Amino acid sequence: MNVTVFGTGYVGLVQGTILAEVGHQVICVDVDAEKIEKLKQGHIPIYEPGLEALVKENSASGRLQFTTDATMAVAHGDIQFIAVGTPSDEDGSADLKHVLKVAETIAEHMEAHRIIVDKSTVPVGTADKVSARMAEVLERRGRAELTFDVVSNPEFLKEGSAVADCQKPDRIIIGTEDEATVEVMRELYAPFSRQHEKIIVMDVKSAELTKYAANCMLATKISFMNEIANLAERLGADIEAVRQGIGSDPRIGYHFIYPGVGYGGSCFPKDVQALIRTADAIGFDSKVLKAVEARNAEQKTTLFAKIREHFGGELAGRTLALWGLAFKPNTDDMREAPSRVLMEALWEAGARVQAYDPEAMEETQRLYGTRDELTLCGTKETALKGADALVIVTEWQSFRAPDFDLIHQQLSEPSIFDGRNMYDPARMARKGFTYYSVGRLPSR
Ligand code: UGA
Repeated sequence: MNVTVFGTGYVGLVQGTILAEVGHQVICVDVDAEKIEKLKQGHIPIYEPGLEALVKENSASGRLQFTTDATMAVAHGDIQFIAVGTPSDEDGSADLKHVLKVAETIAEHMEAHRIIVDKSTVPVGTADKVSARMAEVLERRGRAELTFDVVSNPEFLKEGSAVADCQKPDRIIIGTEDEATVEVMRELYAPFSRQHEKIIVMDVKSAELTKYAANCMLATKISFMNEIANLAERLGADIEAVRQGIGSDPRIGYHFIYPGVGYGGSCFPKDVQALIRTADAIGFDSKVLKAVEARNAEQKTTLFAKIREHFGGELAGRTLALWGLAFKPNTDDMREAPSRVLMEALWEAGARVQAYDPEAMEETQRLYGTRDELTLCGTKETALKGADALVIVTEWQSFRAPDFDLIHQQLSEPSIFDGRNMYDPARMARKGFTYYSVGRLPSR
């Protein structure tokens, strides 16, 4: 099938590439000429395991093309994906200007029936807005006879495993009431729904809400666990035992109940906020979501509070080694990353930071490069040199079994502040560390 994808960000690039991989003819279009030029040469703008090789392979086979030419792109695809960004407005609601601009572009150039697929995470009611905008443009062009259908088909990719998530989706949500569209979408996704039926068809608003509900539910699990972890610390209980104790109930499950330093990234914080704003706009007070957001904001400050207390409230002149800057492993993304809240608090208190991350060094340089209080280190070991204590914010694999003797030797006060519960407290005590983690008593 012929498919066009507007937007070569995370979602568009991964989805377009995977559709080409299974045999569809895909054109990815973007307004950013420089990005398109790089993609044509096989350079991808994000760090995502496995993606670059697939982009190169499918470009070479001719199934995947990149262009800035919207006229050609609209002519190509019977199916037109909208996968452009929906940044947060100042008040936290999703800004639809890019989505509506693409809708205008499609309506401006289309000459035959088109299926428009909203892939971006957009508030409930957006498909109606896209339809209205397209109808206006077609009317103005004097081509009101041209037909189209707007479908909501949200994505559920995780950064770091986006390719695998897209190749083996848990479910494919198709939001439309048009039978003919459903048939076309079934054909498009048939390669992903062969052994088990993955496609769930529903009305367009339910599909739009499903995306937010999924992310908000996951964010709720995390904030809930962080709350219980804070309680456990104060009650002298061990959250890791509690986690296993509750996860064994299949109604609760083991997934997404890891306490930590709060959720970050480009999705959860934005989507929780956007759903709160959607509810506010219709006069509904979303009490649970507001609590989820408040707990998360506070959780991002907990590690700093422990560090400050350990050093008797005085951090001026202290140097902290920081391992992990990305909001989670296997990405270089630092949007809403807990590391940023921590570093900024440490600097405010007069401390210095020596930081290392396996992938996010360039991004940190871009965000904070000019600050004197930050030293970017080439390895996790060099970050320890001359530091007072070690702080771990992201659970990269390479931090799982470090040389503890070396760490002990390098730190002036051998203490570890672990925001991800990576180590066994008893072992840390045996190794001579003062060890702070999340939801467990400090061990000495
Ligand atoms: C999230 C969802 O997991 C995807 O299903 C969804 O498609 C995506 O948002 C999106 O809307 O585009 P992502 O933001 O890439 O994906 O990252 P996650 O792996 O979900 O992690 C989010 C945050 O939660 C991270 O900061 C992570 O450290 C934190 N987290 C996760 C915890 O603190 N505890 C957990 O148990 C799990």
